[in-house]
Amino acid sequence: MRQGLFTVLSNRPLARAVHEMRLAGDASAMAAAGQFVNVKVGNAYLRRPLSPADWDEGWLTLVYKAVGPGTAWLAERAQGETLDLLTGLGRGFDPGAAGERPLLVGGGAGLPPLFRLARELVALGKKPRLVMGFASGEDVFYEKAFKALLPVTVYTEDGRAGTRGRVTDDPPRAEDTFLYACGPLPMLRALSALPLPGQMSLEERMACGFGACMGCTIMTRSGPRRVCAEGPVFPKEELLW
Ligand SMILES: Cc1cc2nc3c(=O)[nH]c(=O)nc-3n(C[C@H](O)[C@H](O)[C@H](O)COP(=O)(O)OP(=O)(O)OC[C@H]3O[C@@H](n4cnc5c(N)ncnc54)[C@H](O)[C@@H]3O)c2cc1C
Ligand code: FES
Repeated sequence: MRQGLFTVLSNRPLARAVHEMRLAGDASAMAAAGQFVNVKVGNAYLRRPLSPADWDEGWLTLVYKAVGPGTAWLAERAQGETLDLLTGLGRGFDPGAAGERPLLVGGGAGLPPLFRLARELVALGKKPRLVMGFASGEDVFYEKAFKALLPVTVYTEDGRAGTRGRVTDDPPRAEDTFLYACGPLPMLRALSALPLPGQMSLEERMACGFGACMGCTIMTRSGPRRVCAEGPVFPKEELLW
């Protein structure tokens, strides 16, 4: 974990209530897709966790949905402003765990870390595919960016983009070797029934974000685990529904 100041390079709307913020600063503590940063938002006591969509040593990109005061505050930040981030938190996805053809499934605000993961899988010579789901056509983001990397199927519940339905309507394919998923709990619960090994990222409510308060503890097959420290990514088989 590292604490540092980051400068806003850009902060632009991508879709309904969804924004992309590019930040310059020391991101060298980020080691795996699915790890998260904890952002200080205004005078709020609790930081807000976000899993970067991408990074390199001197920058990182956040994609976030404005759902409450913290993320609404972020959406108002302008180029040149400074943010205080804890970086390199938690355990991320292991791209080495997948076979040849990983299946990535993401819902809404759960999609950002899958962008970095997709880049890593492609760099390893694997042939991933992505199923992405949103409530509405107005919510779709990063479709083009993902399509530049891998085959993508889009589902929206209102049918205004892609296929009408949910990611869980997508039939598994015989060639899928491994599942990586991030999104709302009902989506993850439904995906847990797929007969594939996998890893899932849980977006539990958090307080400290670095393992000190126990506020994010969940029960797993191996006993209690802190989502912020032993997760947020867990082996699919470890999770209890
Ligand atoms: C490890 C991790 C990574 C995350 N990555 C991203 C990301 O890349 N992009 C993104 O948009 N969001 C992400 N989130 C969710 C994000 O942290 C919350 O949306 C944010 O903290 C909300 O803060 P707020 O002050 O705007 O809203 P709040 O007032 O705190 O909450 C507004 C509403 O959102 C709900 N909510 C808040 N936090 C969560 C949560 N963690 N899970 C489910 N519902 C929640 C609340 O119950 C409430 O209904 C992530 C969460 C975790 C734990
Ligand atoms: S949020 Fe404090 S231990 Fe996880």
